[in-house]
Order: sequence, then C-alpha cells, then structure tokens
Amino acid sequence: MLDDHRWPIGPPGAANFDIPSSARVYDFLLGGTSHGAVDRVMGRDLARAEPLVVSVVRENRSFLRRAVTFLARAGIDQFLDLGSGIPTMGNTHEVARRVTPDARVAYVDIDPVAVSHGELLLGSAKGVTVTEADLRTPEEVLGARAVTDVLDFSRPVGVLMFSVLQHVSAADDPAAVVAGYLSRVVPGSALAVSHLTADDPRIDMDAILGPTRAYRSGRATTRSAAELAALVEGVDLVEPGLVFAAQWRPEARRHRGPLAEPCCGHRAAVGFLPA
Ligand SMILES: C[S@@+](CC[C@H](N)C(=O)[O-])C[C@H]1O[C@@H](n2cnc3c(N)ncnc32)[C@H](O)[C@@H]1O
Repeated sequence: MLDDHRWPIGPPGAANFDIPSSARVYDFLLGGTSHGAVDRVMGRDLARAEPLVVSVVRENRSFLRRAVTFLARAGIDQFLDLGSGIPTMGNTHEVARRVTPDARVAYVDIDPVAVSHGELLLGSAKGVTVTEADLRTPEEVLGARAVTDVLDFSRPVGVLMFSVLQHVSAADDPAAVVAGYLSRVVPGSALAVSHLTADDPRIDMDAILGPTRAYRSGRATTRSAAELAALVEGVDLVEPGLVFAAQWRPEARRHRGPLAEPCCGHRAAVGFLPA
C-alpha cells in the first residue's frame, strides 16, 4: 500500500501501488522518495539478493550524466529521453543546460507516476515536456504533441535510452524499436544507450532479475555484448565503444562502489548517425 506521507501532492490516479514498478523501485534504489511500500520491499529484496544492485543503478545514472554532457558539448541541443523514469538529481535537461542553457528535452515514460511527477517537477521549465507513452511505438511517440512542441526533427536530436530496453522483450523486437527512432531523425543525430547485461561474472544478475517478474511489464531481459552491438548497428560509436557503463569515459572522481574495479551490470554506448 502507499505511504500517504510520501505524496505531498496526492497520489496520481492511474498508478497501481499493489505491484512494484521499475520506475519506482529504481527511484528507491537511487535514494529517492517517489515510491510506495511495495516498491521498497522489492528494492530491499533486490539489495539483499545482490548488494551490488545499488552500484548498478548509480553507475547507470552517472553514465547518463557523462553521456548527455558529452553530447551537449558535441553540439546536440535537443534530446528525446525515452523511459526517462521518475525525476531525481541530475535530470537530462539539467545536465544538458550546464553546457547549453536553452537545451530542450522531451521526456517519455510509460509509468504514470514518473509522468505525473515529471509534469509537476519539470513541466514548468521552458523547453521541457513530459509524455506518458510506450516507447515501443516510435511513430506515436514522435508524433505526440508534447514531443513535437519542443523538438525540431529537421535538426539533429539526441535519442536517449538509458536502462530501458531491457523492458522490451524479444517478441517486441528491440532492434526494430531502436530503428524506428533512428530512421526518423536526421543524420548527425545521436544515440546514447545503456542496457542490463548478464555477462559480468562479478554480479549475480539472476538474483536481481528473478524478482522483477513481479513488474507489470514482466521480468527484464538482459542482453549480451553481441546482442547489444546488433541493436546499435549502423551508429558510429565514439570511443570507447560498447563497454560497461562505468568504463565509458570515466571521470577522475567517480562514484566508488564496494568493488575496486568499475562495476557492472549495464553495458553502454554513445554514437552518431552517419550522413
Ligand atoms: C530503470 S528505469 C531508468 C530510468 C532512467 N532512464 C535512468 O536511466 O535513470 C526504466 C524506466 O523505463 C520505463 N519504461 C519501461 N518500459 C517502458 C516502455 N515500454 N515505454 C516507456 N517507458 C518504459 C519505466 O517506467 C522506468 O521509468
């Protein structure tokens, strides 16, 4: 059940708090406050089963910051953030605007809590919109009023898919979903992606993913390095290519997890669409 004290704004109407959601469990693991009791139970179960899960989500968030900063410095000034999650510290428009003060961002998420919190926390910012939509339908997402209001598709766009494609099953053809966006943006546009992967011996991904069967979207799907390389085929990846998220252009003062080596769990890449 929902803890009412966590919702000074009142609970959003369409959300289901009887089953955990990816967005709210992720918020719990990041130390946020936009989740209910069922999400905390799930988050604690995950952390008990694999204590590195907290490093996994923090490293992903840190990759988001570095990737968006990199793209903004490369001249990308408008972003489509797919599966953007519940707003937390260091949201895409905040990161991009440290480089380009008038950068524009269309946030998209399927979770009603992520969207209603996004509207409240971000919606008043000029050049920022939040849309409730399923990223598996690129044509609908790209045609949504709130997306076309802020993004100009005659110019390059940064398409962002951070830790979301694992929620797109093989039956939903993630390669076609990615292509559905990349085929509709102009050359010079960019893709930044991170994705849960299971081929890191340091982490028990099965322990993390088992409980995620309880999500409405079902158990998340990890993909190997080869499968992820196929998803970004046709994109000119910048150095260092497809690597663990923590290894993508790390900064000197990075988040220190319990492992000496960068951890784990997500592979990540950034690249541009060739002309
Ligand atoms: C693990 S969170 C990642 C949040 C954020 N991108 C980040 O990296 O910090 C995954 C998000 O993807 C969203 N999501 C899952 N399936 C989706 C879909 N089919 N369409 C849009 N959003 C989706 C979830 O609601 C959740 O907010």
